[in-house]
Amino acid sequence: MSGIPKGDSSKGAKLFKQRCKQCHTIEQGGGNGVGPNLHGLFGRKTGQVEGFNYTEANKSKGITWSEETLFEYLEKPKAYIPGTKMAFAGIKKKNERADLIAYLHEASQ
Ligand code: HEC
Repeated sequence: MSGIPKGDSSKGAKLFKQRCKQCHTIEQGGGNGVGPNLHGLFGRKTGQVEGFNYTEANKSKGITWSEETLFEYLEKPKAYIPGTKMAFAGIKKKNERADLIAYLHEASQ
């Protein structure tokens, strides 16, 4: 992987609880909250969760979610997807992003 540190998914689980869970579920059939359910995220294009009312910006970003794209997105979501309504400033620390992505990978499939 291009410059992404190896993540620790148990640390990532804590970060998810603290920083994402108020808006997102990740388990299968978890339903949409303020943000879309994240089950099956990896390998999926942006803006595909049924029944979630995405912004045009998120829908038309058109990339596929992967370690690499999430690593960039989660640093500064509003820079990666200008116009997104995800009210989240981002995670500056590379190792924290890597931990979170390791967790997302495990928990979303
Ligand atoms: C305050 C609520 C909120 C928080 C906190 C939040 N999100 Fe979001 N998230 C959203 C919303 C709303 C969207 C849809 C954005 C849009 O349509 O512009 C979104 C979109 C996303 C998407 C794109 C999904 C897709 O199907 O294209 C990902 C990935 C994501 N969030 C991951 C995360 C992660 C990981 C965290 C924790 C670090 C997080 N979000 C924190 C509200 C939030």
